[in-house]
Amino acid sequence: MDPLLFPIQELHAHLNGSISAATMKKLMAQKPDLRIQNEMITIDKGKKRNLEECFQMFRIIHQITSRPEDILMVTKDVIREFATDGVKYLELRSTPREEESTGMTKRMYVEAVLEGIKQCKEEGWDIDVRFLVSVDRSRGTAAAKETVKLAEDFLLSTDGVVVGLDLSGNPQAGHGRDFLEPLLEAKKAGLKLALHLSEIPKREDETRLLLGLSPDRIGHGTFLHASESAARDLVELVRQNRTPLELCLTSNLKGETVPSRAQHHFGFWYPLGHPVVLCTDDKGVFATELSQEYQLVAETFRLSDEQVWALCLDAINHIFASSHTKTKLREQWRMLKPTLLE
Ligand code: IMP
Ligand code: ZN
Repeated sequence: MDPLLFPIQELHAHLNGSISAATMKKLMAQKPDLRIQNEMITIDKGKKRNLEECFQMFRIIHQITSRPEDILMVTKDVIREFATDGVKYLELRSTPREEESTGMTKRMYVEAVLEGIKQCKEEGWDIDVRFLVSVDRSRGTAAAKETVKLAEDFLLSTDGVVVGLDLSGNPQAGHGRDFLEPLLEAKKAGLKLALHLSEIPKREDETRLLLGLSPDRIGHGTFLHASESAARDLVELVRQNRTPLELCLTSNLKGETVPSRAQHHFGFWYPLGHPVVLCTDDKGVFATELSQEYQLVAETFRLSDEQVWALCLDAINHIFASSHTKTKLREQWRMLKPTLLE
């Protein structure tokens, strides 16, 4: 049985990082003046960039997705592509952006994403899509507060589509302490928290502060286990709380925060029995797919089909949608299992 045919869940996908080459082509045809070449927005097989270069790529991509109609198009294409890859439940995340040049506001941005999700549902795509509003740490506290307000509004008005808040952006920019207040406010309002943390080395103090918020999931956590011995409490804290880690193998390799597949921190957390969820992060920029991530991890860490299946099934425990949705998904998985593992 090919584990690629298992139904899967994607819980860590940044919208603008997930745009495929085909969608980029459509967008670039509409904006020829930008003169953007492929290698400026995607990292092909065997190639790497450092984290700083990756963030430059996002800035270029943002120039291409500057209108609500662009956001609508990329949302729909990204959802269809995940569905085609076998994803049955998807949590997309994105930073609401305002663009002076086109008049797009942050609210219009979120509305365009939600419209894309709605249209895919109406078209009958077999995928349940939810949305996390992202706070970009490079944009400072005031913008974060504004974004949290917006997320709270949509949490109340979207009947379960907007489920949480993500803290992301260049980890070298700003400090986690600048976002504690808005993140706490979001949590109190009922938004689930997915926080990128320990993505780069020597961020123990910041990580300790962010873990103090008891996030619902951790993005990457690449250097948690590599902390100085004085900071071993961080691993202990994460283990005690059983906070799930969203792990993105290709992203970490191509972004050069992990030196080789075998050294990926999946190899630290998985054998501990700690909850981990495999994700793509940015399937467009890092030229990957979720099924491919499962295959890479299975190959690298020699997982059996049964173990891969258990990993897929366990991810349902860590989604941000309601327990009703979890029950429905588990049922769907149970129905599929007997035929798939034969
Ligand atoms: P967007 O939020 O839909 O515009 O997706 C791109 C954005 O996601 C980037 O500008 C970053 O803020 C964030 N992002 C994507 N990948 C990463 C990552 O690996 N670490 C931190 N932030 C990221
Ligand atoms: Zn990310």
